[in-house]
Amino acid sequence: MAEPKKLYIKTYGCQMNVYDSERMVEAMGGVGYVETDRPDDADMILLNTCHIREKAAEKVYSELGRLREFKDAKPDLKIGVAGCVAQAEGEEIMRRQPLVDVVVGPQSYHRLPQLEAKARAGEKALDTDFPEEDKFENLKQRPKAMRGPSAFLTVQEGCDKFCAFCVVPYTRGAEVSRPADRILTEARDLVERGVREITLLGQNVNAYHGAGDGGDWGLARLIWALNDIDGLERIRFTTSHPNDMDDALIAAHGECAKLMPYLHLPVQSGSDRILKRMNRSHTAEQYLRLIERIREARPDILISGDFIVGFPEETEQDFEDTMDLIRAVRYGTAYSFKYSTRPGTPAAERDQVDEDVKSDRLQRLQALLSEQQKAAQDAMVGQEVGVLFEKTGRHEGQMVGKSDHLHAVHVQAPLDVKGQVRRVQIVESGTNSLSGTLI
Ligand code: 5AD
Ligand code: SF4
Repeated sequence: MAEPKKLYIKTYGCQMNVYDSERMVEAMGGVGYVETDRPDDADMILLNTCHIREKAAEKVYSELGRLREFKDAKPDLKIGVAGCVAQAEGEEIMRRQPLVDVVVGPQSYHRLPQLEAKARAGEKALDTDFPEEDKFENLKQRPKAMRGPSAFLTVQEGCDKFCAFCVVPYTRGAEVSRPADRILTEARDLVERGVREITLLGQNVNAYHGAGDGGDWGLARLIWALNDIDGLERIRFTTSHPNDMDDALIAAHGECAKLMPYLHLPVQSGSDRILKRMNRSHTAEQYLRLIERIREARPDILISGDFIVGFPEETEQDFEDTMDLIRAVRYGTAYSFKYSTRPGTPAAERDQVDEDVKSDRLQRLQALLSEQQKAAQDAMVGQEVGVLFEKTGRHEGQMVGKSDHLHAVHVQAPLDVKGQVRRVQIVESGTNSLSGTLI
């Protein structure tokens, strides 16, 4: 039998990319590839890129430059670029970096084996179309060793919101939801293979509206159906837009036993003037009211968010409004970024805020958010929580898992708790994690 070929994938950015990389490994498995963690050993190297951060394309070009040594050592090596930078740059990548053989956008991963074959035949292979067919259904899952008890499952992709700073609607395209029965079949399959927690993924996951029994299903309906799967113990979803938090989804947070008390609900800014310019189509007050309603349904829910500081024309007063909103919400955790321009998006053309002003605001905002994060974590001490154990810890006899509220928890426990949800009494709050004892 021929030696299997080896595929090395480097993944940048969001969970959607992590998920897509796994699907690409599976697709290439069908044509004789196995995954390797050594680029020097690979027959194909793929960069699965992210376009959300600043100078994303430039970083990809410099990373590609570093791959030259591998190609020099092994002229047969094929190099590919996938992900959102591939979608945004397209053919330009091959023009600027001739050592690239394959460019593949997020909608075309099921065609990766054909693209690789074309590259092996000595041609350049490019596919950044938005095809009519559904990429998910073309990426057939094959049974494989599970990576752990927690898995991601894509239910929706793309975004129709067009926030003025964001490339996602351009790189990932319009919102598309997968049919509910496909998702449920895949979820049952994951549970059979030992998965206990499923995180539903989508760029705008709470806008999910897939075909299901009796018509269109919203995300709440899908969550309730997942709740019925025996052996599945936890359900999460990410990332959501405030305008798509409907009544059924809010109620599910209070009533659905397996839906975890954690919600990532980005607001980006607390200033109505800036929210309007961001094209967010909600006000700070509407967001605060929404948080209130979610907390009425589930009082202990941990709220997480995303913030952008220094959006074009942001004044000190706008920034203070954001700080006020953060004080009012009390976040459990949050991600924050300096605004950076994305060519082709509306905000890129506007008056930019000075870099040092952005840095100063980011520092103040992050200081406030870390205080809140620490307070939320400290508040867990003395409480009893569920922990899904995922792996061994650094110390002898220690196991590590995630709490219901997504805090990392260290516990002295036997190895066989791995893959199980166990009750834990929290006794201490450290820098970035909790520790506790098994009950
Ligand atoms: N500049 C800074 N942050 C951005 N994000 C998206 N686009 C930009 C940009 N141009 C942030 C938003 C989003 C998160 C995934 O990345 O906060 O919610
Ligand atoms: Fe980007 Fe999210 Fe806005 Fe969509 S809702 S445009 S993905 S920031």
